[in-house]
Amino acid sequence: MKVLVTGGLGFIGSHTVVELQNEGFEVVIIDNLSNSSEDVLKGITNITGKTPLFEKLDLREKASVQDFFKKHSDVTGVIHFAASKAVGESVENPLLYYENNISTLVYLLQELQQKPEASFIFSSSCTVYGQAEKMPITEDAPVQAAMSPYGNTKQIGEEIITDTTKVTNINAILLRYFNPVGAHSSNQIGELPLGVPQNLVPFITQTGVGLRKELSVFGDDYPTPDGTAVRDYIHVVDLAKAHVIALQRLFNKKNLQKVETFNLGTGTGSSVLEVINSFEKVSDKKLPYIIKPRREGDITEAYANTDKANNVLGWKAELSLDEAMASAWKWEQKVRS
Ligand code: UD1
Repeated sequence: MKVLVTGGLGFIGSHTVVELQNEGFEVVIIDNLSNSSEDVLKGITNITGKTPLFEKLDLREKASVQDFFKKHSDVTGVIHFAASKAVGESVENPLLYYENNISTLVYLLQELQQKPEASFIFSSSCTVYGQAEKMPITEDAPVQAAMSPYGNTKQIGEEIITDTTKVTNINAILLRYFNPVGAHSSNQIGELPLGVPQNLVPFITQTGVGLRKELSVFGDDYPTPDGTAVRDYIHVVDLAKAHVIALQRLFNKKNLQKVETFNLGTGTGSSVLEVINSFEKVSDKKLPYIIKPRREGDITEAYANTDKANNVLGWKAELSLDEAMASAWKWEQKVRS
């Protein structure tokens, strides 16, 4: 079965393409290379022995999206990763985010609604929960007012999909990721952030190789055991596997509703200092860091209740934080060598 993966050369997208091909799916990737490289195709080929189809295309161009679906008329399953994800940039340039993350979604759904049947997997985020009142976070925790246009695009995206499934033959699964980290065990693909990383783990590994002088730990006065903020760091390979399971669920008509929502996390919260400790353990290096004030917009803690993903989706994270940090570190050293 042919599956479209938008943003398939990006961090989570590329790992998902690998898992799809390992499960025998034929994959066609759409990517505009705005935050990725065509070299990623080689990594995917080295791992799986198969090169996915690739269309360099910008989903903001509606006519190109229409042409794509004419050419690949056998695509009925879509995993939609392509989106911008820098919180700060979205505050500076909200319309870029609404165009990149919302217009593109609408164009894709407009094509899919013409099919007798279609399956759609959406990259959502735990950011929709804001600072949830109760930990661990269940899927029925209230969605809170978004703190940035980026976060808002995830909420609006979920609503657009939900409204659309009500009146079309599209079935959808919304996957709310916690914090994806790590790299493929083959060391052929991993995260490739442009410029100075905003996220914790790539900043740590870049500091480890000497590209950054020191890590700033944003806040040590949170009401957490060690004072630093707590997140649920999920290995990208575990995350990728969840997408394949979600798609199979829709293809096999195992879904109980037209739209289902699942948290994808490990269920364990780790503080910034615990992540640093894990890095130091697996790399056998001391990480230089300083404590800085809290980062604006950051929440205290977020980790997933994974019962629904475990029991309904039939997926469970298997890899540990140490394994994720070790793979991220191995990848960083390769990229910089
Ligand atoms: C961020 C985004 C979130 C997005 C996710 C994945 C924000 C507010 N949230 O999540 O919407 O879905 O990335 O792209 O940006 N930290 C440091 N020093 C650093 C970097 C981070 O101490 O140099 C801390 C942060 O304060 C936070 C934790 O590390 O407590 C994780 O940060 P990060 O990796 O940026 O992820 P989130 O902020 O959780």
